[in-house]
Amino acid sequence: MKRNILITGGAGFIGCHVVKLFVEKYPDYNIINLDCLTYAGNLENLRAIESSPNYIFEKVNLLDVSELEAVFAKHAVTDVIHLAAESHVDRSITDPLAFVKTNVIGTVNLLNVAKDYWGDLENHLFYHISTDEVYGSLEDGGFFTETTPYDPQSPYSASKASSDHFVRAYANTYKMKTVITNCSNNYGPNQFPEKLIPLCIHNIKNNKPLPVYGKGENIRDWLYVVDHARAIDLVFHEGRAGETYNIGGFNEWKNIDIVQLLCQKMDAKLGRASGTSEKLITYVKDRAGHDHRYAIDASKIQKELGWEPSLQFEEGIEKTIDWYLENEDWLNNVTSGNYQKYYEEHYGG
Ligand code: NAD
Ligand code: DAU
Repeated sequence: MKRNILITGGAGFIGCHVVKLFVEKYPDYNIINLDCLTYAGNLENLRAIESSPNYIFEKVNLLDVSELEAVFAKHAVTDVIHLAAESHVDRSITDPLAFVKTNVIGTVNLLNVAKDYWGDLENHLFYHISTDEVYGSLEDGGFFTETTPYDPQSPYSASKASSDHFVRAYANTYKMKTVITNCSNNYGPNQFPEKLIPLCIHNIKNNKPLPVYGKGENIRDWLYVVDHARAIDLVFHEGRAGETYNIGGFNEWKNIDIVQLLCQKMDAKLGRASGTSEKLITYVKDRAGHDHRYAIDASKIQKELGWEPSLQFEEGIEKTIDWYLENEDWLNNVTSGNYQKYYEEHYGG
């Protein structure tokens, strides 16, 4: 079936892997990447597919309703995969309103424009990408399932929980065809170096301190970003409308153990004596309201859709470290804002 799929946030970390997968795997679909290119988004992430005939970029902010309406009309959008968001918990603690604007109001804008443009809602899908953080924090036992009650603890997770509720409200009230997935922590190429793993890789390389919040005992469940993109492909095509699917790596790590693993692997890769980089570990003040543990039970997507993570963590971490070491320019450009210039040169500002 011919589809014109609007993917929001396609210039960001997860979005660029989703856009690349869809553009390459489905030449019959038109993929429209809508992104306003915040500090976290850049078009260099999409260089591999930017000339593909089925790829279109639109620099639009979710807060601009008339621009959103114009994009739907211009490209006859048939479906939405919504990833655009403010995504960093620490930034949400210093500027919660930015998260309300993009994650809540931006999502409601997109729902409204899609609802009004589609009219007949039966033949169109609104797929919302969310996070395991909406379920709150776990102690040392148990897992989040799709029926775990929402209990968001940070301004970021409160904004994502709110957007999830709006998506469900549109499904219930207007009979919009929707699906939501809630995923655990992603890692891999193209992640902005404010998040734990790319920040540590960047700092180890440059002999800078590795800030570990609190005692480093908080636990996250890590998934390679391409495996998340594969899950999104599967849910988009085979997920049941109205459902929620949890996605996770079955791969829990304490933060301090991840930081130590990165130190060991990078010492070997950089030809440093074993133990050199661990000396950079610096315990710092804990994140306010720091969630202790996230752990996903992904058995629903496994059983219903046959999804499994394809990469073991050690292999994924090797690939990730290698990517950052081989893409030093990318790191320098995202940290200096140079990719804004790339956009102006390629798209005329
Ligand atoms: P990211 O911060 O790397 O990218 C977000 C993208 O959205 C950027 O390209 C940015 O320019 C764009 N954007 C932000 N505000 C916008 C606006 N107002 N209008 C248009 N575009 C805007 O985020 P990510 O880590 O790739 O996360 C993508 C989605 O997946 C988010 O919805 C996030 O909540 C969710 N998620 C992330 C993770 C993770 O570990 N990173 C895990 C689960 C779910
Ligand atoms: O669980 C999914 C979520 O994972 C996504 O919804 C978010 O968008 C994504 O940012 C991520 O949130 P986290 O807060 O878990 O990721 P972050 O990389 O910021 O932090 C991972 C853990 O490492 C967390 O316990 C805080 C800790 N940390 C983080 C940073 C940046 C440190 O100890 N030091 C640091 O410098």
